[in-house]
Amino acid sequence: MSTQGHMYPSVVSGLLDRSTAWQMLKSDPSQLDFNGPSDVIEELIRLKGVVQGLPRVTTADVELRGVTIPAGSSVNLWYLSGNHDSDRFDDADEFRVRGISRHLSFGFGTHSCIGQSLVRLVIKCLLGQLVSRFSWLESVPGQDTNWGELGSYYTPSTLLIVAHV
Ligand code: HEM
Repeated sequence: MSTQGHMYPSVVSGLLDRSTAWQMLKSDPSQLDFNGPSDVIEELIRLKGVVQGLPRVTTADVELRGVTIPAGSSVNLWYLSGNHDSDRFDDADEFRVRGISRHLSFGFGTHSCIGQSLVRLVIKCLLGQLVSRFSWLESVPGQDTNWGELGSYYTPSTLLIVAHV
């Protein structure tokens, strides 16, 4: 499955059981406007990012919290960990309206994801259809809710939902 195939169920998992995100999208359709930024969508992408991390080789000595990582070191950048960093985000594991916050779900810097605008657009299309067709989405209890192992995509292995009209 592609990164996108992992991302969409992951984002939908943030809308279940009358979540705050679901209620905000219902009450404020401007959050799904194709032309503008959306703090609800961005917060869902922060919380539900699926790329756990990627490897890099340092090109210079880097000092991080008192530790020097020498040039030429192999390091792994844990994007999801950064997205849940409590030094950066209050109540980091919770959905909050934060304005457009800087997150790492599409990486960072020169090599950040070139498909991210397309992904935001598709998420808005998908969620727009869901909020316009259904009154709420209910999670199905008892299903296998394992999320990705370390090194794979962080996404629900299955996501069974009941959509109420
Ligand atoms: C939900 C779907 C997607 C997610 C979560 C995602 C995430 C990412 C991440 C985390 C990176 C690494 C950035 C870094 O190294 O700092 C990346 C790179 C990249 N993505 Fe995506 N991506 C998605 C969809 C797409 C799509 C649809 C396209 C193309 C249309 C795309 C094209 C690329 C390319 C070409 C790079 C490499 C950029 C570079 O090395 O300069 N991605 N993506």
